[in-house]
Amino acid sequence: MRKGKFIAVSGGEGSGKTSLFTFLKKSYPEAIFTREPGGTPVGAAIRDILLDRHELDPTPEAELFLFFADRAEHINTVVAPSTKLGKHVFSDRYWMDTFAYQWWASMKRTDINAFMQLILAAGFPDPDLLIWLDIDPKVGITRRFGTGLFNRIDVKTLAFHRRVREGFTQLVRTVKFPYVRIDASKSFDEVRADVQQSLQKFLSI
Ligand code: TYD
Repeated sequence: MRKGKFIAVSGGEGSGKTSLFTFLKKSYPEAIFTREPGGTPVGAAIRDILLDRHELDPTPEAELFLFFADRAEHINTVVAPSTKLGKHVFSDRYWMDTFAYQWWASMKRTDINAFMQLILAAGFPDPDLLIWLDIDPKVGITRRFGTGLFNRIDVKTLAFHRRVREGFTQLVRTVKFPYVRIDASKSFDEVRADVQQSLQKFLSI
């Protein structure tokens, strides 16, 4: 059986991922839609620590390994078994986010190779396509705050979110798998059309 494709969708806050996922679910009803953190029962417990319990303030290093623990469970129990069965998997965030948020923005580390060694050691597979929804954090944060929903990471400073964007920008220069940068400040219809075009171009799906 042909393996399904693994598509990771990443980006800063307020980049419209949630609306995009609603659209993708309708377009690819056979695919698996999942997320990090929290795509598994173990992950849901880790997500609670990472995002919902505002009174906890783990160090950036602890945060990084909590995201890795969530991801190990997610890859082993959801992503790999599904693609093996020929299903396409769309993940709302993946290890690029750990690079941008924890490694680059929180830990202020710029050594991409050292991070990639961690990914290799953890055995996290490359996605078949990364869709990066890129947006000016000032615009994204304003959008996000309009929803009234914010987690422990959303509420970090604008300077932090600017560093996150810088992290994504640096990372995509070095990755070996296909990626597309989508200008998420465009209208939703345009974003949707750009994403659909990329899925057809890179994966023929
Ligand atoms: P979530 O509530 O899923 O919403 P959204 O993806 O729409 O922002 O938030 C996930 C949060 O976790 C988001 O603030 C980014 C953060 N995050 C990291 O900091 N590192 C990671 O590795 C991942 C996967 C997410």
